[in-house]
Amino acid sequence: MNSAATSPAASGQALDDFIAGLPKTELHLHIEGTLEPELMFALAQRNQVKLPYASVEALRAAYDFSDLQSFLDLYYAGADVLRTEQDFYDMTAAYIERARADNVRHAEIFFDPQTHTERGIAMTTVFAGIARALRDARLKDGFGSAMILCFLRHLSEEDAFATLEQALPLREQYADLWIGIGLDSSERGNPPEKFARVYGRCRELGFRLVAHAGEEGPAAYVSSALDLLKVERIDHGVRSEEDPALMQRLARERIALTVCPLSNLKLCVVKDMAEHNIARLLDAGLAVTVNSDDPAYFGGYMTANYQAVARALDLSREQVLQLARNGIEACFLPGEDKLALTAELEQYAAAH
Ligand code: HPA
Ligand code: ZN
Repeated sequence: MNSAATSPAASGQALDDFIAGLPKTELHLHIEGTLEPELMFALAQRNQVKLPYASVEALRAAYDFSDLQSFLDLYYAGADVLRTEQDFYDMTAAYIERARADNVRHAEIFFDPQTHTERGIAMTTVFAGIARALRDARLKDGFGSAMILCFLRHLSEEDAFATLEQALPLREQYADLWIGIGLDSSERGNPPEKFARVYGRCRELGFRLVAHAGEEGPAAYVSSALDLLKVERIDHGVRSEEDPALMQRLARERIALTVCPLSNLKLCVVKDMAEHNIARLLDAGLAVTVNSDDPAYFGGYMTANYQAVARALDLSREQVLQLARNGIEACFLPGEDKLALTAELEQYAAAH
């Protein structure tokens, strides 16, 4: 073995390689956030939609966000190119290719129907395109997936109820995929309690429940998502650290946080990746997981997210492995599937 093999750079490379091959779960992924500029331009041309950018490069250059809202404005504008079932299929199929390359074994995917139904796109078009791509992938090589319908929190609870009513007739047809309900979009000023009744209804209907909380909003939103919405996982949740009692509860109850490091950096939730609190959350015994959120906008898919935090926070191999274990623990697969994924993960760790 030459001396370079033991240098910090070489061990960083070894951890990068370990991360790349690690079997992963992805629990916080907005399918509309996987629309890469190249595909956005191709769909714009196919559907004769005019984009306010001259080129792919000009669009990418606009991905310079100051906060969540500055991103959401572009994200909703970008989604306007999605018109047909084939568009939703192509977007989802492209995501699956990227996820496969990162050794993602199972992805629980958010979609925002209101972004589309508001523009006159039928609910059936949205479901059909996404689901066909997920089913094709499952048949091809067993790529595992589920769909989580998200309500947009900047809209009213009444609108969320109407969206639920529109989607429910499709439940049986998509029972193999549509398992849950989530809550996303502008967090500040739109607290969980605004959606307590519609979440109550979704709970009665037997959906798995998650919600974004504690990304830009305070730790109190995490507590109210748990107490009032009765969610099983918190999306983001990084601001939970501001409430020590909440931290203890999250650790004790093993309530997972689906953390998205590159998203947090791009949306200025953290100034520098070296300041990210994911290692502290992990050390405090929380079930933190790594996810990519809106990878086309934030500069990286699953492997890139793991590698970015591992490098910036000098994570150990064991910490990386624990993040991956947490991802399996926190997913909504049946127990026997979790055991099989865990066995695959441990086998990988033993062999590498
Ligand atoms: N936060 C809130 N809403 C979102 C996000 C996010 O990170 N991504 C897509 N919609
Ligand atoms: Zn998100």
